[in-house]
Amino acid sequence: MGFSKPKSAHDTFIMTDLTQPFKRLPVAVIGTGSYVPERRLTNADLEKMVDTSDEWIITRTGIQERRIAAPDERTSDMATKAARRALESAGVSAEELDLIIVATITPDTFTPSTACYVQNNIGAKNAAAFDISAACSGFLFALKTAVQYVGCGQAGHALIIASEKLSTVVNWEDRSTCVLFGDGAGAAVLRSGGRPGDGAVLASDIGSDGTLHDLLQIPGGGSACPTTVENVHERLATLAMRGNETFKHAVSHMRDSANSLIERAGIDPGDIKLVIPHQANLRIINAVAQRLRIPSDRVFVNLYKYGNTSAAAVAIAFDEARREGRFGKGDIVLLVTFGAGLTWSSAAIRW
Ligand code: COA
Repeated sequence: MGFSKPKSAHDTFIMTDLTQPFKRLPVAVIGTGSYVPERRLTNADLEKMVDTSDEWIITRTGIQERRIAAPDERTSDMATKAARRALESAGVSAEELDLIIVATITPDTFTPSTACYVQNNIGAKNAAAFDISAACSGFLFALKTAVQYVGCGQAGHALIIASEKLSTVVNWEDRSTCVLFGDGAGAAVLRSGGRPGDGAVLASDIGSDGTLHDLLQIPGGGSACPTTVENVHERLATLAMRGNETFKHAVSHMRDSANSLIERAGIDPGDIKLVIPHQANLRIINAVAQRLRIPSDRVFVNLYKYGNTSAAAVAIAFDEARREGRFGKGDIVLLVTFGAGLTWSSAAIRW
């Protein structure tokens, strides 16, 4: 028995016949969407908040402005908007979804998951929904996870979303971090099959190194350091980063992940139409592209207008690049990310 349309999410998980030889299905990305909040926070605005300058921020990071969510705008609200756009571009209804995965480090609440809020918002009543936490690598961790479900016939349609309201975990008095981050969301719809026009997932790679957990972290607010009046004053529930070391690991891990993926998938680097890297710092992007020997006109950059939106960054970039026509039918796109954990990930998609 192969995959056939289940009546409910529960059915999805009992319909695989384990007596039959396992046959892996091709998995395709069939739609993308993204959303960024309206409010822009420019470098000139930040000059009024901390001891910094437009010139320093642009030279060291490439960022000109970032988007900030409204106070009452939740991570799930942004995720929902990106999800609706992805479903529309895929031509898939919410009821057809079997799986929703949200990658975020800024969930609406510790529990329930942000994915469950999204499921309710869009009316995806047949979907199982859960969150994953892999920081800036989260979208491609979600992709790899969804590929396993769809490729094994355990889900017909999967929705993956990365959404972050980083403005709630930024220390707005710390100039070394507050200039870097922004809010936003991106999403994609996956299904099995290699129909014409589908974006086939050729290969994906994920990796982690927990020995370097202290390079980039939010130390407070979890079970290790529960919120108290004192540690709120000490800003322990905000992002803390060792920037220089993070920079070096970002470059080497993105290079290594992309190279191993290219080799494993048997891709000629000359055939890659577009590299879509994590949008953290223009100098990191340039260094990775140089090491991969990909010219800058084949590297997608939008961080100058959004900053680093963690997991959402590569998802928003993927959607924008597709809508701008930066890749088309038959083109190979390489996505590569890096984040706290440490974590890294890459994926090759033939559109
Ligand atoms: N405005 C002005 N000066 C600033 C500043 C700011 N916003 N932030 C830091 N500085 C100062 C520092 O205090 C330091 O001053 P000092 O020399 O008097 O001590 C100086 O600028 C240099 O700081 P440094 O941290 O060495 O700068 P850098 O060139 O490494 O750039 C980052 C800092 C954060 C931009 C860079 O390290 C980086 O991008 N790291 C990776 C970040 C990242 O990608 N994180 C997410 C991973 S998913």
